[in-house]
Amino acid sequence: MRFEITGEALESLSADAVVEGLYQEDEPKIGEGYLPPELGKAVLSELKRRQFDSKEGEVCVLPLLGNKKIKYLIVVGVGKKRNYEQDQLRSIGAKAVKAANGIKIKKLIFHPDLIKRAKDVAEGVQGLTEGVELGSYNFSSYKKHTAQEGAKKHKLEDVVFVSLDRQIKSKIEKGLETGKMASEAVCLARDLVNTPSMDMHPDQMAFVAQSLAGRGTGITCKVIDKTGMEKLGMRASIAVGQGSVFETKLIHLVYHPATKKKDLKKIALVGKAVTFDSGGLSLKSAEHMIDMKIDMAGAASVLGVFKALPHLNLNVEVHGVFIAVENMPSGSAYRPGDVVSAMDGTTIEVENTDAEGRITLADAIAYSALKIKPDAIIDLATLTGAVIIALGSDVTALLSSNKELKSALINAANSAHESMWELPLYQPYKDLIKSKIADVKNVGGRPGGVITAALFLEKFTHNIPWAHLDIAGPSYCEKETRPEWVIGGTGWGVRLLLNYLKNL
Ligand code: BES
Ligand code: MN
Ligand code: ZN
Repeated sequence: MRFEITGEALESLSADAVVEGLYQEDEPKIGEGYLPPELGKAVLSELKRRQFDSKEGEVCVLPLLGNKKIKYLIVVGVGKKRNYEQDQLRSIGAKAVKAANGIKIKKLIFHPDLIKRAKDVAEGVQGLTEGVELGSYNFSSYKKHTAQEGAKKHKLEDVVFVSLDRQIKSKIEKGLETGKMASEAVCLARDLVNTPSMDMHPDQMAFVAQSLAGRGTGITCKVIDKTGMEKLGMRASIAVGQGSVFETKLIHLVYHPATKKKDLKKIALVGKAVTFDSGGLSLKSAEHMIDMKIDMAGAASVLGVFKALPHLNLNVEVHGVFIAVENMPSGSAYRPGDVVSAMDGTTIEVENTDAEGRITLADAIAYSALKIKPDAIIDLATLTGAVIIALGSDVTALLSSNKELKSALINAANSAHESMWELPLYQPYKDLIKSKIADVKNVGGRPGGVITAALFLEKFTHNIPWAHLDIAGPSYCEKETRPEWVIGGTGWGVRLLLNYLKNL
């Protein structure tokens, strides 16, 4: 998307559409200063006829037939609030861009009032920008026609922010930059999740990680192959991948801040990176297998964060750790009943090869705890189907025994407007994952499935403050239940983590 910030008055501008917010008030106004007054009145009576109530989030597109400079009005209901939070502007941006693409137009202007009424201009414009970028996301690399010019013809290309107040221009610029950068990070995560497993295999995950590192980025990336993982004692993760033709890989990214404070914090972000989860020999049904290219969404969000880090100038050392692995059935696959040992020596009885995520996370978390020794470990994983039963498909489960970390994450999630709800790390349920022949088993039955999965992971944290985010629900969507989502990978967690790291 091309963005432009102009100080020119609306009346002198031309575009396909103007986006205006409409309040619930006695005498609503529209088109002031840039539409002939009769047309403004006609628009209002048409909105009334359509029973447009200006409820928050309601959208109406009206053609301004015969009008020269502006062809359409995109009216977004803003309810009664007169000061916009960042999330309201993100939604307005996303709804406006989806409406614009619905009528195949190329250029739109956001009415200056939308920016003027932001509680904080920079944050508001960041939200608006994110809404535009995320709402117009489109994954088309596998469509034949994208190579041809035609495909791009009917997409929005230009977005104009109007600000008559010169003093706030720098705030708008700042918000625009932050918004673009955060969106790029989210869209990288979405691309990785949307790419079919045949192309997003463990080697490709390693390649993507390496391409984020290098000169001037502050990022280094180590890729440890199967032999290296064997030396580290990661037999558990190797077992999960031994049925696949792809070699299992451990990836370790580090962001080193340019200036190092004394009390520099070290944070490890661990992602589940199962590039395809067939279930292994405990094979999934066709119905449950169909979406399983998304099973690396946790790592995708971690990679998204690393995409943004070089631009943020944060004073925190960030580690990204994931084990890229494919879970496949074959003559060499690991079996139900096998006992495998994790990096820290803990033995795991494999009761079900479809509970593979926690086995690979056992190694990734133990590696983080023992080798990196960070101040906190946060893992993101599409870990259980049970979390979707518990919280539905839009909400992440947060499980942690560390109060401080928990509240920092809840704050970050609230400001990112990424929904998350806490579930208890109820210790007595540890009995459910006791094994008769090993230290622990990898399933604890259907009841409390999210909790027993988290309790399994907790065993590998070695008392480092740790939080687990089960993102199986919101990591991808089948319906656009949030304005900024587009069917497919959502990039859930990227904006939350960026907020969390900024607030440290
Ligand atoms: N990757 C799945 C969890 C999942 C399910 C993610 C649906 C996204 C959507 C995970 O590896 C899995 O298969 N979990 C099993 C665990 C069970 C065997 C204990 C599950 O939830 O059924
Ligand atoms: Mn599985
Ligand atoms: Zn899985």
